[in-house]
Formats: sequence, structure tokens, C-alpha cells
Amino acid sequence: MYLVFDTHQEASQFVAQRMLQRIIAQPDICLGLATGSTMEPIYQALIQLINQSQPALSQVTTFNLDEYVGLGKSHPQSYYYYMCHHFFSHVSIPEAQINLPNGKAKDLAAECERYTQVLNQTQGTDYQLLGVGTNGHIGFNEPGTPFDSLTHVVELTAQTRLDNSRFFDDPAEMPYQAITMGIQDIMQATEIDLVITGEHKAEVVRNFYHSAVNENLPVSVLKQHPQVTVVLDKAAASLLPHEAVQKGLVTQ
Ligand code: F6R
Repeated sequence: MYLVFDTHQEASQFVAQRMLQRIIAQPDICLGLATGSTMEPIYQALIQLINQSQPALSQVTTFNLDEYVGLGKSHPQSYYYYMCHHFFSHVSIPEAQINLPNGKAKDLAAECERYTQVLNQTQGTDYQLLGVGTNGHIGFNEPGTPFDSLTHVVELTAQTRLDNSRFFDDPAEMPYQAITMGIQDIMQATEIDLVITGEHKAEVVRNFYHSAVNENLPVSVLKQHPQVTVVLDKAAASLLPHEAVQKGLVTQ
């Protein structure tokens, strides 16, 4: 199902509300979390909702999708830092239940194995919050990643490095590698909200809509998942065909 909202803010409010509902309905929920600019207003809205309704968070577990290789917890561009800054420091999820890959691990292969094992103990996430890169990556699974991949080290593409270097004061600091949950790990989620906003994502939304499932467009794998909601703002939906909206495939 595709849902289109006028603004990024409205889409974020909708997703945050759904996340809150899921947490209330299942206090021991395992949440798959993402970073990036798409997610910032979602975490902002979710913090507000949590403050208002005070759901129990003591049994919530979280797994983040990815982390840059070489960036430690205190590096402002690490995803650990992002998550603390935008979400974890504002809510009371026990630290021991927060999981991110360790980008500073000496043995990266062992770290990937560890992350896969911990994730498997929970049999995947109950709810996965997901974004997409302009090249169709999910997590940091770049085009060409096998659909049966588990947590692994990835060489970031030139496109992803270009897109994400905007977060770094010195673009040369942008890492070349990351650890990412694999596509199989992501697909184990019971339910997935794929959130895509902004005009710069309109082309990847169009490609996703029209494309057959194929490894060159990693996000296309989600067409095989039984419970995915694609949440868009108008700008990201701007290249979707009118007949899709008319047929009710795309709704607001
Ligand atoms: C981040 C992640 C990535 C981002 C994607 C979009 O944890 O997994 O796949 O969701 O790169 O990033 P933004 O939202 O910054 O455009």
C-alpha cells in the first residue's frame, strides 16, 4: 500500500503514531530502526508522543540497520551518536536492549557474525522502519547485493558516498565502508514501513513502483514482503503515474 501525505512532517507524524501504537500493543516489541534525514522528524514526533502517553519501554529492544566502519560512538556522524542524539537520550529504553553494529570492531567479520546471532535470537524484528537511498539501497545494501545476505561489511558506492558526505564537515571524512544488516535480515521483519520523502527521491520511488523484483534495485525486494506500507510525501510521489492514484493504489 502507498500512502501519500502533503508534507514530510505529516508523513512523519503518521509513522510515529503507528510506532507508538505498535509499542503499546506489544510492550516487548523488537523495533528495527534507521537513521538519515528522512527519520529525524519521525523520532522528534515519536519522542513527543511517548512523553504524552508514557508507554512502558522497559521491554523494548531495538536493532539499527547499519553503522559506518571506523566511526566510534562519540563521532558526531556515527549512527550510534545519531540515535542517541535524535532518540535514545530522550526515552527510557534500557541501554542493554539497544543494538547497533560496532563500526570500530577490530574483527569486522566477527562483529557481523555477532550481530546476525543476536538478531536471530529475536527471530528478526517485529517492526522495521526503513528508508531508501537514491540508488535504491536499503540499510546499506547497495545495488547488486544478494537477497539472501545477512549482516555484512559493504563497500559504499560512489553515489552513496556523494549523497551522505553532506553530513560531514569535511566530505573527505566520509567512510568507504559500513556494516549493514543484510537483505534477508530486513525481510524477516513482520511489518515494514518504508518512508520516502523529498523530490530527490521521486525517481527511486518511480523505479520502485514500476520495477520487477531484482537485485540491482535492492528496495524492490520489498515487493515480496507481505506487510509493507510505503509512506511518501507529495514530492517523493510526484513521478508516480496518475492512474495509480485513480485506481486507489496510492491514497492519502
Ligand atoms: C540509514 C539507512 C539508509 C537510509 C538512506 C536514506 O540507517 O539505512 O538506507 O535510510 O540512505 O537516507 P536519508 O534519509 O538521509 O535520505
